[in-house]
Amino acid sequence: MANEVVDHGRRRFLTATTAVVGGAGVVAAAVPFIKTWEPSARAKAAGAPVTVDISKIELGQKVTFPWRSLPVFVVNRTPAQLAALPKVDSRLVDPKSDGASAGQQPKYAQNETRSIKPEWLVVVGICTHLGCVPDFFPEIKPEPFDPNWEGGFFCPCHKSRYDMAGRVFSGVPAPKNLQVPPYHFVNDTTIQIGVDPKEAG
Ligand code: FES
Repeated sequence: MANEVVDHGRRRFLTATTAVVGGAGVVAAAVPFIKTWEPSARAKAAGAPVTVDISKIELGQKVTFPWRSLPVFVVNRTPAQLAALPKVDSRLVDPKSDGASAGQQPKYAQNETRSIKPEWLVVVGICTHLGCVPDFFPEIKPEPFDPNWEGGFFCPCHKSRYDMAGRVFSGVPAPKNLQVPPYHFVNDTTIQIGVDPKEAG
């Protein structure tokens, strides 16, 4: 009787040990695979959010910040540039960004100015045609490529044009508006690129 109890106990112990060893074996086998999928510190840094000071960006000026190896344009738009936005609506492919460009901005930037605060434009400076970096032509004046220019971006590669909200004009090779990355205001003079606003999360 006493032996029986011991045997039961031993069997239980052996079963438990086998289970643990089996479990450890599975874990040991799985680790190399998990390691392969873990992003390196460099990859993590490359995908990390970027916090930038916008206090020195003057009215009408554009400053480019790198984020995920992409140039992000931050523009301090003037009241005149903002007032010009509706004037070009009829010349754009998708003025409300709800058609071909519906996926080109977070919901909180799907508005007339394509931004959180009207004056601050934040867009990825990569042409949606074949990936060149568009040039900035902020002045409202006739340009060689557009006699009715209201300010915006001109891609030197194949002449695509975007307005001051990064919205693409009709009749150019680029199919979509410039992409608005996730971003939020940390305070009035600091934005973080790569992270949505808390209320949008
Ligand atoms: S890459 Fe910009 S127009 Fe072709």
